[in-house]
Amino acid sequence: MLRGMFRPSLSAKVHSVSPLRYARLGLGATPSLRATALGLAIAATAALSAPAAAAAEAPYFPDKNMMTVGVYYYPEAWPREQWARDMANIKKFGFEYVHMGEFAWAFMEPEEGRFDFEWLETNVRLAAEQGLRVVLCTPSATPPVWLSRKHPEILMVDASGRRMNHGSREHATWSSPVYRRYVERIITEMTKRFGRNPAVWGWQIDNELSHYGKGYSYGPDSRDAFRAWLEGRHGTIDRLNKAWGNAFWSQMYNDFDQIDIPNSEELVASVNEHALLDFQRWFAEEAAGYIRFQADLLRKDSSAQWVTTNFMNLHKEVYPPLSGKDLDIVTWTLYPVHGDLNKGPLGFRLGDGVGMSFMGDFARSINGSHGLMELQPGQVNWGSVNSQPYPGAMRNWIFEAFALGAKLLCTYRYRQPLFGNEQYHHGIVGTDGVTLSRGGEDWVQAMREIRLLREKRPAVPTEPRRYAARRTALLYNVDNRFDVDNHTQTVRWNTMEHVLKYQRALKSAGAPVDVITEDKDFSAYRFLVAPAYQLVDEALVARWTKYVEDGGHLILSTRTGTKDRNAHLWEGPWAAPILKLIGARIPLYDVLPAPRDGRVESALSSRSHEWQVWAEVLKPEPGTTVLARHKDQFYAGEAAAVTRKLGKGTVTYVGVETVSGDLEKEIVRRVLTDAGVAIEDYPDLLLVDWRDGFWIASNFSSVVQKAPLPPTAKPLVGTAELPPAGVAIWSE
Ligand code: GAL
Repeated sequence: MLRGMFRPSLSAKVHSVSPLRYARLGLGATPSLRATALGLAIAATAALSAPAAAAAEAPYFPDKNMMTVGVYYYPEAWPREQWARDMANIKKFGFEYVHMGEFAWAFMEPEEGRFDFEWLETNVRLAAEQGLRVVLCTPSATPPVWLSRKHPEILMVDASGRRMNHGSREHATWSSPVYRRYVERIITEMTKRFGRNPAVWGWQIDNELSHYGKGYSYGPDSRDAFRAWLEGRHGTIDRLNKAWGNAFWSQMYNDFDQIDIPNSEELVASVNEHALLDFQRWFAEEAAGYIRFQADLLRKDSSAQWVTTNFMNLHKEVYPPLSGKDLDIVTWTLYPVHGDLNKGPLGFRLGDGVGMSFMGDFARSINGSHGLMELQPGQVNWGSVNSQPYPGAMRNWIFEAFALGAKLLCTYRYRQPLFGNEQYHHGIVGTDGVTLSRGGEDWVQAMREIRLLREKRPAVPTEPRRYAARRTALLYNVDNRFDVDNHTQTVRWNTMEHVLKYQRALKSAGAPVDVITEDKDFSAYRFLVAPAYQLVDEALVARWTKYVEDGGHLILSTRTGTKDRNAHLWEGPWAAPILKLIGARIPLYDVLPAPRDGRVESALSSRSHEWQVWAEVLKPEPGTTVLARHKDQFYAGEAAAVTRKLGKGTVTYVGVETVSGDLEKEIVRRVLTDAGVAIEDYPDLLLVDWRDGFWIASNFSSVVQKAPLPPTAKPLVGTAELPPAGVAIWSE
C-alpha cells in the first residue's frame, strides 16, 4: 500500500459556496461559474483569477538562490523573553526565513473587532533584525471560540449530521458566507499591517485546506452552494437527470432544490456514482474558489509579496491545478515517515521516494514554481507508528526536494511543543528550546551544503542532452481518481499505486518526468503516459491520436477510455473511443480475489510477471504487436499488452497491472529505447535527477548503492558510495 503518501487521518472529502451566493452577498472573489470537468475547469479558472502574472515581474525566487530554506515558528506559544534568542538561533543555524501566524487568530483578534498584532509585529521586526525574511499565514484554519459561539452556522457538519465544535482546527466550512466575512476582515487587518512591510516575503493561505479525517462538510451552506453549482453546470434538471443516470431506482429530480449532497450515511443502498463525482468536482472547485478569495484579498493591499497555500501530498479532494493561476508558487506538505512500511526493510524509516518524486513532478508542472512548505524535521506524533527516521533521512528528503526543483523549502517546526496536540512532534531544536535535535542536525548540515552549491552553480546551467531527451509527461486528472476510486471493482485496486508503477519505471530509466494536466501542450513531450485514464471524450482521444501521428510515443494503461466525462459507459464496445488508436479490442477484463494471482509473460524478455489487481484480454488488429500474453486463467495465450506504429509515433496499451510493476518497467524502457533514446538502469529507489547544473542521487533503498558518477567527477556533496538515505551531488 502507498499509504505513506496519504496521511491516514486526512482522507477528507469536501464542501463549498456558490458563486451566485457570493455575488449576492457582495463578498468579492467568486469561484468559477464554469462547471466543466475539472481538467477543463483549469482553463476557465485561469481567465477569472487574479493573475500570478506578477510572478514573472517580481523575482521572488531568484535562480541564483536555487532553493531557500525556512522554518515554522509560533511566537504565541513561547514566552516573550525567548523570542529574540529563538530568532538569533534560527539565523545561526542557517535558516533564511521564518513562517508565522498560521493558527493565531485568537491572538490576532482576541475579541470580535479588537485586534492585537503587536506580538506579531515584534516578531517580524526581530526576524528582520537577524536578516531573516518572514512568511505570514492567514489564520483561517483556526477561527476563535467567540466566532464559533456567536455563529455556529460557520461550523462544518459531517456526514452523520454532527456539527463540529471549537477545540481543534479546520472546523469551519468555507462555504459559509458568514465565515468568509470574518476571514475577509482578519486578512484585511493583516495586510493593512504587513502588506507593505519589506520584511514580509510572502503569504500562505490557510493550512492544508481540508477537514482532515472528517471529510466533506454536509451543512446547509454547502448543500445550497452545491445546488447552485449544479444549476450552473447542467442548466436544466432534465440534463442533470441524464448526466446522473437517474433513470435508475427512480432517482429522478423535478427541481434543483430537491437535491441533497450525496451521502452514503443517509442512503440505504449505494450512492449514485455520477452524483458523487459531481459533488467531488464541486468540492474541489469550491476549495479553489476559497483559495482565490483569500489570494485576491491578500493582493489587494500587499506589494511585492508572493502568495501560496500548502496542499497536502496527493490529497485527492483539494486539487492544486485549479489554483495554478491564483498562486505565485504551488507548495505542499510532506511527512515521509509516520508508520508506513514503504519499500524494503528500512522503508519505514526512509519514506517513499517514488511517491515524493511524483508529487514534486506534479506540483512543479502546475505553474512552474513549486516548493515544500512543510517537510518533516524528525520524528512526528500523528502517524500510526511514529518511528525515528533513519540517520540522514531528513537530509536525503531535503536534497530530493532540491532535485525536484523546489524553489522554497520549509520545515515544520522550529521547537518541539511542550504542550498541545503535537507534544511528541520533534522540531529543529528539542524540548529545551536551544539544542539541535537529530533532525535539526541534518537540516543544519544540508543548509550548509546548499550554500556551498550556490557558490558552484554555473551562471547558465545547461540541461544535459541525454537527460532532456528522456523527458516524459505523465498525464493526471483527479476526475479519473475520483471515478475509479468511487467504483474500484476490486478491493485490491489502488489508483495511486497503479500510477506510481509508471513513475517508478520512468525514474529508473533516468527520465525527467512532468506530471501534467490536460490544459498543457502534449507536443512539448516526446513521451506521454496516461495510466488508468478512465474518463475521456472524443476531443481528448483526437488529441492523443494527433500527438502520436506527429511523432509522439503514447503509453496508456488499464481502464483508460472506458467512460465519458459523466462517467457513463459508452454505448458500443468496451473503451470504444480508444480502440482504433490502440489497434485492439478489449473483450473482457478480469480481477482476482486474494489469494489468487495470475501470470502474464513478456514477449520482450520472456519473463513471467504475477498480477492480482486487474488484467484485460486484448484482441489485436493486424499491424498491432503483442508485448505480453496471459499465461493462465481461461484466457491463457491471449494478449495483455500491445503496441503499434501510427504516423510518425507509437501507441502502447498495457492491459494489466503487475504486482512488482516490472512488466510496466520493461515496456516503458522498450518504448523509450525504440524511440532512439539512451536510458539508464538505475536500481529501484535510487533516484537521480539533474537541476541547476548538478546531478543529485538520493538513496531511498535499504542497501548501499553506487551513485552513477562519471569516473572523472567527484561529489561536491556526499559520497559516491551511498548508504541508505545517502546523497551524492556532482556536476560534470
Ligand atoms: C501538518 C500540518 C501542520 C502540523 C503538522 C505536524 O500536516 O499542516 O499544521 O500539524 O502536520 O506534522
